[in-house]
Amino acid sequence: MDSLSLMDKITALCKRRGFIFAGSEIYGGLANTYDYGPAGTELLRNIRNLWWDNFVHKRDDVVGLDTSIISHQEVWKASGHTSGFADAMIDCKNCKLRMRADHLIEEITKEKAEGKTLEELNKIIQNNVKIVCPNCGEHDWTNPRKFNLLFPVNLGIIEGDQSLAYLRGETAQGMFINFKNVVDSSRVKLPFGIAQLGKSFRNEITPGNSVFRTLEFEQAELEYFFDPNVQNWEKLFTDWKNAMWDFTTKTLGINKDNLRWREHDDKERSFYSKKTEDLEYKFPFGFKELWGIAYRTDYDLRQHTKFSKKDLSIIDPTTSKKIIPHVIEPAVGINRMLLMILSDSYVEEEGRIILKLNPRLAPYKAAVFPLLANKPELVEKAKKIYKDLRSSFVAVFDGRGNIGKRYFAQDEIGTPFCITVDFQALEDDTVTIRDRDTMKQERVKISGLVNLISKKII
Ligand code: GAP
Repeated sequence: MDSLSLMDKITALCKRRGFIFAGSEIYGGLANTYDYGPAGTELLRNIRNLWWDNFVHKRDDVVGLDTSIISHQEVWKASGHTSGFADAMIDCKNCKLRMRADHLIEEITKEKAEGKTLEELNKIIQNNVKIVCPNCGEHDWTNPRKFNLLFPVNLGIIEGDQSLAYLRGETAQGMFINFKNVVDSSRVKLPFGIAQLGKSFRNEITPGNSVFRTLEFEQAELEYFFDPNVQNWEKLFTDWKNAMWDFTTKTLGINKDNLRWREHDDKERSFYSKKTEDLEYKFPFGFKELWGIAYRTDYDLRQHTKFSKKDLSIIDPTTSKKIIPHVIEPAVGINRMLLMILSDSYVEEEGRIILKLNPRLAPYKAAVFPLLANKPELVEKAKKIYKDLRSSFVAVFDGRGNIGKRYFAQDEIGTPFCITVDFQALEDDTVTIRDRDTMKQERVKISGLVNLISKKII
């Protein structure tokens, strides 16, 4: 399977089986926006729930938060986003295509260009005639210019500066501005983390690659606060890297060979970070960032102290000293995780397309079929089984087409178990259960189904 066609195949499967649709499709689409269908919605929920369970519920030192998407303009001035959060964009003078200058260079030269200055980007592009427009093939570019990624929103009816707010560009700031609220209202003590799942918005222009980079996306971020005089930041950084690796390889079941770590150099690293590493996944279009980890020091809490004039320092109970805690931040996109999971589980085998999803991620854990859809006694029995299973996990009923077509559809959705109700079921209360990956069928008692499947999906 060559990698370009793999992306096309995944995109087609996503549409065919209800994972991902183009945004505003019936109006001709809206670039870099996507909608999730019934199967995609279940998959997103499963990823989110596993992340929350692993990093919040299963830890003593992390609490959750849910902050607003629309935020005060001062938040983004303090964080540095209104001045520093910008991409260098370049326009094709011939066909007017607008692109990120670093992405254009990387696509053609395969050399990393993120973090280069406007002058450096311009020099590379103007001196290399092979860097042509992917749309019209011309080498006729404007100079790169910076565009801010934040989405401004005007609140109320008053035009002008007072009513300006922003859609959040990262969920992280919600956790910094509520740091004192969390400390004062819960029993946390250093070191501790605040976690949040939610949508962020960036005015990004990037062609293709499905949900990899979009205008709105869901982030799963965690701010781990600590006292650098008590905890060694390098050890904490390594501990969090291990937690990210284990979640990706063990909980989600992603193939280790498709993952690697990459450290940002001084030019690429964000203005607020002392050290940043990316866990990269080998997407069909190459190794790209999945999950970043950054040591943000005390930058954000200090900036918010300065801008809000509120004291955000706390007493560390270990030293009894007043400090502004430092922060290590693992931050991932749920939609990017979904694309990784789809890429990693897509398999073609003997004329079948299978999503070999880890069963705990599968949108539906079991599908129940009557052998023949025109035999009411089989349909009734199958519906009863489906309803019983549904109270323990997500299941579907499918009575359309023939059995072969139903298996074919469920394999493409990644349903690990298919249960067929035949005439023997009416006599001895047994059914056949088919395993998605091995295609092996077993005859089992209906009364044991919930137990049998439950054991395999945890
Ligand atoms: N608070 C730090 C932060 O936001 P980031 O590397 O810009 O860091 C974190 O974003 C993660 O969010 C990325 O690793 C990626 O998985 C996801 N992400 C960022 N921009 C995205 C976009 N435009 N579309 C989809 N996911 C995105």
